[in-house]
Amino acid sequence: MKILVTGGAGFIGGNFAHYMTNTYPEDQIVVLDALTYAGNLETLEPIMDKPNFKFVKGDIRDRAFIDDLFAKEKFDVVVNFAAESHVDRSIENPGLFVETNVMGVQVLLDVSLKYGVKRYHQVSTDEVYGDLPLDRKDLMFTEDTPLHTSSPYSASKASADLLVLAYHRTFKLPVTISRCSNNYGPYHFPEKLIPLMISRALADESLPVYGKGENVRDWLHVHDHCTAIDLVIRKGREGEVYNIGGHNERTNLEVVKTILKQLGKPESLIHFVTDRPGHDLRYAIDPTKIENELGWKPVYNFDTGIKQTIEWYLNNKTWWENIISGEYQDYYAKMYKDRQ
Ligand code: NAD
Ligand code: TYD
Repeated sequence: MKILVTGGAGFIGGNFAHYMTNTYPEDQIVVLDALTYAGNLETLEPIMDKPNFKFVKGDIRDRAFIDDLFAKEKFDVVVNFAAESHVDRSIENPGLFVETNVMGVQVLLDVSLKYGVKRYHQVSTDEVYGDLPLDRKDLMFTEDTPLHTSSPYSASKASADLLVLAYHRTFKLPVTISRCSNNYGPYHFPEKLIPLMISRALADESLPVYGKGENVRDWLHVHDHCTAIDLVIRKGREGEVYNIGGHNERTNLEVVKTILKQLGKPESLIHFVTDRPGHDLRYAIDPTKIENELGWKPVYNFDTGIKQTIEWYLNNKTWWENIISGEYQDYYAKMYKDRQ
């Protein structure tokens, strides 16, 4: 099988490219990535020289380029991770999110149809369901929960999901969609909560917690997300949506305190800052469908996963120090200056 992994120089796509090249030496894995601020070739360094791996630099919005690539490579499967992925950035610049996350997806769908791709898989998010109240622990997102988005990011991802389903219904493109909860693990860009808090705590810098830190996220280790996507592309039914999550709900404050405890740093580093506009209260995934239908099971729970992740950040300082030493400094100064 020849598999195109778009956005494979980012966090989850990079982990997926590692997982697939190592697990299936007989398959060809091609990563396509525009190398935006979030794309990092150092993430792919460990697999770059493998005979079943290839990297191509390119933009999913560039129709002519994508068409040429598909004509040449004749992919069997496309797994689309390429996206603008940070909610806070989507509040600053919604237009870019529509261009990449919606228009870029439309290019991939058209070209997948034209060249007879056997499976187009869209990596989506639980954020398309909006949020749940904090005081109703009984409620969880199922695949039938209505789409109800809050941020320009989640609105762009929901729009893409609708396009993907429309290409299935109207043009019979063989598609699947997975909607996963918040991921964490190796190679996570340090603008997101967990790697941001690890890197700042290690430098004894203040940890900006939005609002009161009561918002709840349902955390899944990226390895478990990768095994789930692999199952969906091989065994999932065409036209279906699969939710992915491992029942690991934590408040943001609990997450930050866990990190501080493992690093032996004081809770006095925590600094409550102005809340994110439109901040979703709680996400919680019901993964019954993928568990029952495809037999998926996560290997990490939050306690084992966060331990492994913190160790990875301690053992791979060069990877994230290279990122936070550059223009990332300007980003942090700009995004957090009004929150203090
Ligand atoms: P990321 O920001 O780390 O990586 C995105 C990658 O896409 C980067 O390498 C970037 O260079 C690339 N990219 C951006 N625009 C592109 C374009 N126009 N053409 C080609 N490449 C482009 O994001 P991530 O956290 O790895 O998320 C990957 C996917 O998973 C996204 O679609 C996201 O919506 C989804 N998702 C993320 C999470 C999470 O917790 N991070 C959870 C569920 C779903
Ligand atoms: P994030 O990692 O941006 O993921 P998402 O918004 O897609 O869930 O944020 C996770 C949670 O952490 C979210 O509730 C916002 C909160 N948060 C902070 O409290 N401080 C921060 O500096 C960041 C980046 C996030």
